[in-house]
Amino acid sequence: MVDGIDIIAAARIACLFVDARIAVLASGAGTNLQALLDDPQVGPCIVLVVGDTPGVSALERARARGVKPVVLEPAHYASPEAFDRALTTLLEEEAIEYVMLAGFMRILGAHTVHAFRDRILNIHPSLLPAFPGGHAVRDALNWGAKITGATVHLVDEEVDHGPTVLQEPVLILPEDDERTLHLRIQEVEHRLFPRAARLLVEGRLKVEGRLVHVLGGDEETIGAGPKE
Ligand code: GRF
Repeated sequence: MVDGIDIIAAARIACLFVDARIAVLASGAGTNLQALLDDPQVGPCIVLVVGDTPGVSALERARARGVKPVVLEPAHYASPEAFDRALTTLLEEEAIEYVMLAGFMRILGAHTVHAFRDRILNIHPSLLPAFPGGHAVRDALNWGAKITGATVHLVDEEVDHGPTVLQEPVLILPEDDERTLHLRIQEVEHRLFPRAARLLVEGRLKVEGRLVHVLGGDEETIGAGPKE
């Protein structure tokens, strides 16, 4: 409550203009979750944060913002498929329309991907298709690449593979180590991910095969894709 204004209530009212229910899945620090929560348009629509590990900062960030945190631990399920179905059920019970993978260090199962086709975004710390997988920053450094970056893409059944929504390059400096480079990439991620989420929720992404058209264009972003 600030100056008699309940910020969370005000944010929920703001969300009515977009009328979307978003879940964010996160496994760790949750700085990308925070960037989504802080976005004036996307943040108020986030109604659920799902973590796969108890006690991670992402869950705390959800609580601090009055967003429901739920922990789904894969070890509590008989198989990856059972975990996948439990996740889909949870998302459907919460009437979720869009899913954001914000550092969710787990491959999303086919059941969930199918249920939310073209409504799931992932943020990845490289310019895909270069350096997919869980060590993208280290892999770019080890490769001797001069440029890497951040990618937001729609999620399909393959790892770090779905159609690209937004990308932005980051120069690799001679003095970079994994930490310094990842920090600079994350600065880009924190701008790029909310912007892509906004475009998705506003219904401005049109998918044609691997190509994602940004309807009306997106002047703010490098690589916004063909305009319509
Ligand atoms: C991000 O760099 C993202 O690209 C990768 O995992 C990291 C998560 O960071 N998938 P955070 O938890 O959002 O701080």
